Parts: sequence; C-alpha cells; structure tokens
Amino acid sequence: MKRPKMKFGYAILALAVIAMISISAIMGQQRDTERGATLYQQYCASCHGSEMQGGNAQSLVDGVWQFGVEDSYVFRNIKYGITHLGMPAYENALSDTDINNIIAYVRGVEKDRGVERPAIARETGTMDYELNIEVFAEGLEVPWSIDFLDANTALITEKPGRVRVVKNGKMLSQPVAGTPAVLNEGQGGLLDVAVDPNYAQNGWIYLAYSHSLTSAGSERPVAMTRLVRGKINDNRWTDEQVIFEAPAETYRTTRHHYGCRIVFDPWGHLYFAIGDRGYQDQAQDYKLPNGKVHRIYPDGSIPEDNPFAKIEGAIPSLYSLGNRNIQGMAIHPTTGHLWTTEHGPMGGDELNLILPGKNYGWPVITYGRNYNGTTITDNRTYPGMEQPNFMWNPSIAVCGLDFYTGEMFPKWENKLMVGALKYEQVTLLTLAGDRVIHEETILKNAGRVRDVSTGPDGAIYVVLNNPDTVVRLSKK
Ligand code: HEC
Repeated sequence: MKRPKMKFGYAILALAVIAMISISAIMGQQRDTERGATLYQQYCASCHGSEMQGGNAQSLVDGVWQFGVEDSYVFRNIKYGITHLGMPAYENALSDTDINNIIAYVRGVEKDRGVERPAIARETGTMDYELNIEVFAEGLEVPWSIDFLDANTALITEKPGRVRVVKNGKMLSQPVAGTPAVLNEGQGGLLDVAVDPNYAQNGWIYLAYSHSLTSAGSERPVAMTRLVRGKINDNRWTDEQVIFEAPAETYRTTRHHYGCRIVFDPWGHLYFAIGDRGYQDQAQDYKLPNGKVHRIYPDGSIPEDNPFAKIEGAIPSLYSLGNRNIQGMAIHPTTGHLWTTEHGPMGGDELNLILPGKNYGWPVITYGRNYNGTTITDNRTYPGMEQPNFMWNPSIAVCGLDFYTGEMFPKWENKLMVGALKYEQVTLLTLAGDRVIHEETILKNAGRVRDVSTGPDGAIYVVLNNPDTVVRLSKK
C-alpha cells in the first residue's frame, strides 16, 4: 500500500508547483500600481502635479478626458503624445507594460477620490452665442444618426437595428416595426437614416446598414453596407426597395469600416460611402465597392455620367476612390458640393471636398500611421492623388457632419459642424472656398459625438454615445 501513497504525495507536490507557477503568472500579468506611482512621480508629476491635480498641464483626476476616456485612448495619448499641445510621447522612455502600470495608478487614484464624469452641462459659451444644452431624446441604445420628417418629427437610428420616432419632443415607446434585420456586431448595425428632400410629396426614407450573407466557405457570415428605402405608415416600415447592394463576392467577414452616410445634392443624386472594411489596399480597386464614395439616383439607378460607369468591370456607382472610412457627409448649401470627414489611422483624420473620379489616396498616402506605431507609408503626397482640405493629427475620430443652415444662429450660416467620437466635441469650421480658415469647438465632453445636424427649428441636434442621448443646442 506504500506505493500508491507515494504517488499521491508526488501528485500533491506537482499540484502545488503548478499552483505556484500559475499564481506568479497571474501576478506578473497584473498591473503594478506601485511601480506606476513611482513612474508617475518621475515622468509626469512635473506637469500634471504630484497629486494629479494639474499644474502646467491639466488634472488627470477631474473626470474630464479631453482626448478620449477609454484606457486604449489614454494609452495612445501617453505612448504617442499630443505633441502639438506639449504632451510628450513616451514610446521610447516607457515600455507598454509601464504605461499600463501608470494608467492603473491613475485609475486607482480616480477611484479612491470617487471621481465621476461631470454631468452634461446645461449651457455653454461660444465666441458668437451663449447656448442652452437640453436633452432631446434619451433611453436610446447606441444612437447613430438623426434626420427630420417635418418641423415636429425626428427619426433616430439605434445601431442594434431600430428606428425611433420623436414627435413633438416625445419619443414613441415602440420603435418602427419591420425595419430590415441588421448585423449588429463590431462597428456594424443600423447606420444612417436620411429623409428624401421631397419627402412631403413622395414619403421616401433611406436607411444604410450592415447586411450579412451566409457564405459557403465559412461559418462566419460575410457582411457589407447595403441601402434600402421605404415609407413609414402607422409606425411601420413599408414599401421597402433595395437601392444599393454590393455583389455577394465582395462581402467580407470583418466587422468594421462600413462607412456610411447618405446625402442628396440639388441635382437629384444620392451619395453614400463604404469604408475599406479593413482591407486597405482594396480602397484603390475600382472593381470593389469598399473604401469608396458612391453616387446613385434615389431609386437605385446609376447616373450615366458617373466617372466609372463606362469602365469594364468597375462598380458603376463609384464616385471617388481611396477613402478609408468616411463617417461624415454633407452637401454645401450654395455650391452643392460634397464634403466628407474620414477616419484616418493614428493621426490623419481628414476633411475632403469630393470631386468625381478623384483618388483620395488611402492607403498610398496618409498623414497617419498604424495604431501600433508602425508606418503605413512614407508618402504624404503622390501624383494623381488628392490632399485633404483639412487634417487632424492626432485623430479626433471625426463622426457626423453638417452645414449649419438654420435661422437661429445667423453668424454660423454655412459653417461646417464636425462631430468627434474620441475627442467628444463638435467643432465649427469656417470655409473660404475650399480652405478652412477658422476652427472653434462649440461643444466639449458631453459624450462621444456620433452625428450632428441642423434641425428644422434652426437648433443644432447632436447624437451622443455614452451617454446615449440626443441633445439640442439652442440660443440662450
Ligand atoms: C511637459 C509636460 C508634460 C509631461 C511631463 C506629461 N504631460 Fe501629459 N499632458 C501634457 C499636456 C500639455 C497635455 C495636453 C492637455 C492639456 O493640458 O490641455 C497632456 C495630456 C495628457 C493626457 C490626456 C488627458 C485627457 O484629458 O485626455 C494624458 C492621459 C496624459 N497627459 C498623461 C501623462 C502621463 C501619464 C505622463 C507621464 C508619463 C505625462 N502625461 C507627462 C503635458 C505633460
């Protein structure tokens, strides 16, 4: 009977060794806040204050993160710096682990002091106007876009796949029934809603969303951006027509960079954009729909003078090439030109005036680099490729775009309102021709800005994520 006992002893010993190894492995992975505290004092305290209270630079424990609140943004801001504002890059001085140790220390101090995100302010000042900020709609789930049927009715999309109606300032308790099924994964889901410019006569409403197909070769459904139009009767989606669907073989298994906004020019065209779907080189291939701006008629037919319509094998709806992931689109109120905001990689968010058949360069030229710090290309310019009209480096994560066209703020007539997810702001750009000559932030830190729109009453409507609300900016 001795031998089995011996075996039992070995087994216990072995288990103990395994347990010790795994505990030390877990400890090794855990973020070391003490080391973070030491490094903070050594590298950061001189500017951000020994108690993080601020000094030469802002407080890190006031709950306000101007340059992105999530750990991934804070990490990038430390590693790559915000150099034009005097925040150094630490990519050479600190390892990734040590940057995470510092973040763990900062988060710990935030928690100890009970720091909370400040509530949305109820007013704000700008150079031209004092603004009231009020909640227009809440109780939403990842709202993505807003448009207006008439003076009293707004439509709001929720990314999981719902269209909500706000009538006379009250949101209907039920979403519109019967809207298309969407693939709500990653950046995909129900995206834009747009109301036909002649809605009062024809009743058409347009939706863009991530559409999935089961693919023969893989378990994972493939997906691409798709557009439909339909009508809303008694809170029901009816008369649906598909107006853009990409060829099935161009669908992808990725779940990001879908585009998509829908706008109309004064000559009866409809524009939308599809992001590169994570395949950057495909943005240059006119045989594929991704990484491009498209132009169609609202019934889905192709304008004969589309720049690629007569090229053998090209996707006939293409209007421009080399667009990484457009998240804002607007038509200039007097010129009728299409303007877009596009997510660059790290650095290099762009504002572009989109002209037919032009190539906007992604990924051959860009001012950004990959988020892991590696270089995409050394080229900033290239023959036959367009430069941006304006550029944000570091990236603010541009999202949502509209020209201000209301009567409430006459001094802002035809200025561009640019939303930003990461920097949680709405910026007003003044254009002179195709140059940006002035930039002013009019809303900051209310939430991640997904969409911005002039309302029929002249107020500015801002769709926010986290908190998931729509706020209305009006003149005080
Ligand atoms: C030379 C001064 C300086 C030093 C040293 C410095 N910073 Fe900064 N930091 C800044 C400035 C300037 C900003 C820009 C924002 C501002 O203050 O308006 C900033 C911004 C930041 C932000 C973005 C805050 C937000 O609201 O989103 C973080 C995070 C940050 N610093 C962390 C650190 C850490 C961690 C260290 C040490 C490893 C450090 N900084 C060292 C000057 C400094």
